[in-house]
Amino acid sequence: MSLAVGDEIPGSRVIHPLIVRITHWLNAVAIVLMILSGWRIYDASPIFPFTFPPWMTLGGWLGGALAWHFAAMWLLVVNGLVYVGFGLASGHFRHDFLPLSLRAIWRDLRAALTFKLEHRLGTYNAVQRLLYVGVILFAIGVVISGLAIWKPVQFQFVTGLLGGYDTARIVHFAMMAGIVGFIVVHLALVFVVPSTLPPMITGRASTHKGTPL
Ligand code: HEM
Repeated sequence: MSLAVGDEIPGSRVIHPLIVRITHWLNAVAIVLMILSGWRIYDASPIFPFTFPPWMTLGGWLGGALAWHFAAMWLLVVNGLVYVGFGLASGHFRHDFLPLSLRAIWRDLRAALTFKLEHRLGTYNAVQRLLYVGVILFAIGVVISGLAIWKPVQFQFVTGLLGGYDTARIVHFAMMAGIVGFIVVHLALVFVVPSTLPPMITGRASTHKGTPL
């Protein structure tokens, strides 16, 4: 039997559609491969006065890291297009990430920091909405700036818009840093409210759950 969002089966309902779950986990794999291989590529020609320790990187050497980076890039982009296409076409983004106001973000942030935020499975609070919209924008930014430094001749319009090759590298790094920042907060929230994890795997949540954050 195929289940849709909101479908009730005794005691549980689907809160994450199959396509969101598949693209979420494929994206998590792709992002980790991109970041770790990206750090190895960065080490070959650092733009800041530091490098990443080799044990934190993927690929072994510049050539290996580039091979990983370009392989995972296809997974990230194709999978990302499926996720964003579904999110826009199905109304998932509109229904689950909007509305989003500064007032709601401030209210939920204060509640979260004082451990008073009620987490209702199947509904994202304003802080989560901000984080999800933010990371989607960072991911789009990392792909666009990546194109600018991968093919600066073919995409010279993009490279120019970003202020040239050297600035595009800094933008690419900044987008990566934003994504890493998101991952740290995202994993901390999953750790604090572990009941959110099983539904991201099975799709279903109990109809009677309300866990304080
Ligand atoms: C092992 C790593 C990860 C775990 C355990 C994890 C876990 C989760 C869980 C449990 C949710 C559902 C939250 C809820 O229902 O309240 C979620 C949603 C989400 N996660 Fe992750 N996540 C991981 C990695 C990532 C990465 C790397 C990204 C992107 C850079 C990401 C982006 C998202 C987004 C955008 C959503 C909202 C999905 C939607 O409803 O469209 N996650 N994640």
